[in-house]
Amino acid sequence: MRFSGILTDMDKILPEIQQRRARRALSLQEIPDEVVARLLEAATLSASCFNNQPWRFVVLTKGSGIEHGQARLAKGNYWAQTAPVLIGVATRPDYDCDLDEGRQYALFDCGMAVQNLQIQAQHEGLVAHPIAGFKAAELKEDLGIPPDHILITLVVIGYPGTDNILNEKHQELERSDRVRKNVDEVVFYGSWPAQTQPAE
Ligand SMILES: Cc1cc2nc3c(=O)[nH]c(=O)nc-3n(C[C@H](O)[C@H](O)[C@H](O)COP(=O)(O)O)c2cc1C
Repeated sequence: MRFSGILTDMDKILPEIQQRRARRALSLQEIPDEVVARLLEAATLSASCFNNQPWRFVVLTKGSGIEHGQARLAKGNYWAQTAPVLIGVATRPDYDCDLDEGRQYALFDCGMAVQNLQIQAQHEGLVAHPIAGFKAAELKEDLGIPPDHILITLVVIGYPGTDNILNEKHQELERSDRVRKNVDEVVFYGSWPAQTQPAE
């Protein structure tokens, strides 16, 4: 157990990683076009299997389709109505490596690209919050995304705002500490741990 029990000095984790949170309190402030362009550039600098670059981004802004995204948000994502930019991330499984043992890399590589975008957004003082809570089939149709593509997520982007627009539960979450599984539950050393038998 060479690494377990070592206390991480959080100050040595990149500030953008430390500070990024899935914030919901967003302001209405517009985001300059060149900033949005930088987020997209950062996303496309991600690694991908065989450099296949399976990601496709549909950028929705005021005057350019944002009402479609807003109309398809799940109820619980009411807070995303304020965001000046929504970015739909889509792919098709055959855009990327499809290897044995279920190793389909299109979704994985899109996830890495979104992580790049989130880190750049944090660096720019923005919140970039990916969501799964939206009507994917309907939004695909509204945006003209072909049926054989997967609309994986909408990334909700905006400058931080005040949390009085949020419901009580979300206000609490906004101020809460991060919740994470214990490292020992997700990190194994040398080999997978022996299965414990479920209790009778
Ligand atoms: C793929 C994905 C889907 C998510 N969907 C939603 C969502 O629909 N609504 C929401 O409020 N948060 C959503 N989140 C945010 C997560 O709840 C959040 O990242 C998680 O609780 C960890 O908190 P943190 O990002 O602040 O560390 C989503 C995050 C990811 C990566």
